[in-house]
Amino acid sequence: MGIEVIVEGLTKSFGQQTVWEDVTLTLPPGEVSVMLGPSGTGKTVFLKSVIGLLKPERGRVLVNGVDMVNSPERDVYEARKLFGLMFQDGALFGSMNLFDNIAFPLREHTRRKESEIRRIVMERMDMVGLLGAERKLPGEISGGMRKRAGLARALVLDPQIILCDEPDSGLDPVRTSYLSQLLIDLNAQIDATMLIVTHNLDIAATVPDNMGMLFRRRLVAFGPRELLLTSEEPVVEQFLSGRRAGPIGMSEEKDEAALALEQREALPTPPRRALVPQLEPSAGLGPRQAVQRRRARVLAMWDQLPPAAREAVRAGLASVPGESV
Ligand SMILES: Nc1ncnc2c1ncn2[C@@H]1O[C@H](COP(=O)(O)OP(=O)(O)OP(=O)(O)O)[C@@H](O)[C@H]1O
Ligand SMILES: [Mg+2]
Repeated sequence: MGIEVIVEGLTKSFGQQTVWEDVTLTLPPGEVSVMLGPSGTGKTVFLKSVIGLLKPERGRVLVNGVDMVNSPERDVYEARKLFGLMFQDGALFGSMNLFDNIAFPLREHTRRKESEIRRIVMERMDMVGLLGAERKLPGEISGGMRKRAGLARALVLDPQIILCDEPDSGLDPVRTSYLSQLLIDLNAQIDATMLIVTHNLDIAATVPDNMGMLFRRRLVAFGPRELLLTSEEPVVEQFLSGRRAGPIGMSEEKDEAALALEQREALPTPPRRALVPQLEPSAGLGPRQAVQRRRARVLAMWDQLPPAAREAVRAGLASVPGESV
């Protein structure tokens, strides 16, 4: 069963540069959340802070009673075993074949017998479609295969919290659809709390229960997916429609002059994407346990949701037999 992750007032700097400040959010247990944000806004730094690999200057990250920022390193190391982290670059060991790469956390953190390790590794490799590639070195396979190997490795310790850093980068559109389904199926199978960093608008539209966005050193929003998908906040709207007009520029922010010029130029504004239903687990898996918990949670915050978000939640529930509000 997934574990809640509570982030409170988190601030991280490197020297003079503040990456983000005062980030507060809760990842609800067993739910899938997506974190969006232009390049360089500190999404990777955020994931590394949640798992305790980077230490923010202020704030806390509470996981099972352990503060990943301030607790003694011994406790943080123990708590880290609850996590599976899929790095942005795969972070595989170049001289180890895929089998040994994926077996690494089991050999490092458990005393399991080799026969058992073999069973678990093969199961995970099957899950991500890599059976048959056990003996290949990372340098001998495609970028997409390396990504999936990174995911398999993140899964071997049966994590209760899964963090994925751009799992789709470098994947073709078909593989990205398979990946979206894989993430939802994984969530249905193990009820883990998941946080996915992505730039992919299809994943954002179809996978998560919740969505957040980092911009200009702030968490500009975090909440149910419907809240962001219907948001009128300029930066959220611009990002989710992928257009040039708006506060996000090529280098993270536009200045006043560029924004004024843009108003005169009237850059094209493509229509907003239509809301589509969230992906369901594959046939035979049964419903995700998070669905009922999330329903109760969203209904409890009904009064705080803007009308457009409520409408979207209603439409989503209407597509589930026997559900409505
Ligand atoms: N170890 C480090 N030392 C100094 N600065 C760092 C370090 N790691 C990250 N940064 C800086 O923090 C900022 C955020 O980086 P981060 O990698 O988190 O961005 P991101 O949102 O993941 O971007 P992308 O979408 O391109 O992956 C960047 O300006 C980066 O240069
Ligand atoms: Mg990154």
